[in-house]
Amino acid sequence: MKEAMAKVFLVIWCIILQLELLKTTYVKMDNQIHNLIDCSRKNLTTMPDVLRNSTTDLNLQGNLLYVVPAWSFKKSRILKSIDLSYNRLKVIERGAFEGLVKLSILNLRSNLLTSKLLNVNIFQGLISLHELVLQNNQFYDNYTFFQTVISRVKSLVMLKMDLSRPYKIDKCLCNLSNLQDLEILGLPGQSYSNDFFQNLKCLKIETLMLDSVLSLAQNTFISFPNLKTLGIAIHTARARYDVISSIFNSLKIFKGRNMTEISITGNPHRNGFVLGHPHFAVLEKICLQKLNLVDDSILGVKFNPFLRYGLKENCLKELNLSNNLLFDSKDRYVFAFCAFKHLKIIRIPREVVKDNRVKDLPKMMYLTRFAFQKH
Ligand SMILES: *[C@@H]1O[C@H](CO)[C@@H](O)[C@H](O)[C@H]1NC(C)=O
Ligand SMILES: *[C@@H]1O[C@H](CO)[C@@H](O)[C@H](O)[C@H]1NC(C)=O
Ligand SMILES: *[C@@H]1O[C@H](CO)[C@@H](O)[C@H](O)[C@H]1NC(C)=O
Ligand SMILES: *[C@@H]1O[C@H](CO)[C@@H](O)[C@H](O)[C@H]1NC(C)=O
Ligand SMILES: *[C@@H]1O[C@H](CO)[C@@H](O)[C@H](O)[C@H]1NC(C)=O
Ligand SMILES: *[C@@H]1O[C@H](CO)[C@@H](O)[C@H](O)[C@H]1NC(C)=O
Repeated sequence: MKEAMAKVFLVIWCIILQLELLKTTYVKMDNQIHNLIDCSRKNLTTMPDVLRNSTTDLNLQGNLLYVVPAWSFKKSRILKSIDLSYNRLKVIERGAFEGLVKLSILNLRSNLLTSKLLNVNIFQGLISLHELVLQNNQFYDNYTFFQTVISRVKSLVMLKMDLSRPYKIDKCLCNLSNLQDLEILGLPGQSYSNDFFQNLKCLKIETLMLDSVLSLAQNTFISFPNLKTLGIAIHTARARYDVISSIFNSLKIFKGRNMTEISITGNPHRNGFVLGHPHFAVLEKICLQKLNLVDDSILGVKFNPFLRYGLKENCLKELNLSNNLLFDSKDRYVFAFCAFKHLKIIRIPREVVKDNRVKDLPKMMYLTRFAFQKH
């Protein structure tokens, strides 16, 4: 009797769970109705049967899935995005993504995928796939083969993947003629250089994000003649002491070029910028529209370097200095930033600390947004 009751409860519970999972959200984005099913962080161990023929977006992030079975998504042929990140995926069965001709975004970040278990045609047939996210998996067991698989997804515009010594980007990625946007996650403990990227000259990469940076070789960016946007996220726990210097040395290659945005985040060392530091001289020579120096221990920059930068002809429209410790007298910084002819928005810590290194550093720095009006 008890057992039967328990069974009934279990069934009811499962129905509730399914109903819960079946909640669909309609969102209007880019003038299109997105029909989103959100099953994220539900501790699912098997693929739930929740799709309808009208589903466009499926979120399965943060579950415990370890296999994507064949034909998992056959109920909706109009799926545009699938998020399977942060699961425990080891196996993607042949034909798992069969029929998804509208799929534009596939996120497989942070799983346990290996090249050995990767089917060579697994992404073939995803003829609309623009964005493929594969970082933090275990593809190094046959990295050459891994890149061959990717090189078949000709529609890719954005690719996010792991890359670590002694491997490098293979010529076969030249087949991705639409690729513009590349995000690289290196294993902690390595430096980036042109060795990784020299085969990318064949492509017109406009956006590059490097993650887990310890230091950069001076030649890191010479194979990116079309780069417009560059993001460098420093590995805060392990960065080399001269990481900021190495980064600015590598930026010299952009001299005389037009760029949209450069971001440098997460420098743990309080040596990043010091009084009158020559780093700014590197930036002065690039026609750069947006600069983000965030979490960078911009410590001891008196505002003179900014003043010098501002007085030279430059293209800077937006400056983001969030989460830094700026040391100087408060009134001087407004003065320094006023010199920039094109600057419209700056984000700096609200508090500028008097330079009496260092006893009571405030724990939190708040952001202020200044909007400069053009006259
Ligand atoms: C998932 O499992 C963890 C650990 O057992 C638990 O703490 C969490 O509440 C569970 N989440 C859901 C949505 O059931
Ligand atoms: C979706 O299924 C419903 C009935 O279940 C049907 O009326 C409708 O035509 C289907 N839509 C598409 C796009 O297949
Ligand atoms: C990598 O995979 C390809 C294709 O399956 C195979 O021919 C090659 O021997 C593999 N290389 C290694 C080092 O396992
Ligand atoms: C590009 O793809 C073609 C077939 O589509 C293949 O023959 C060629 O080897 C590929 N190029 C590289 C560099 O892998
Ligand atoms: C940078 O942009 C300006 C204005 O759009 C243009 O005149 C100039 O030729 C560009 N410089 C380079 C190196 O592309
Ligand atoms: C400042 O820059 C960081 C790093 O690029 C970015 O994540 C953040 O969104 C920016 N903040 C603003 C307010 O633009």
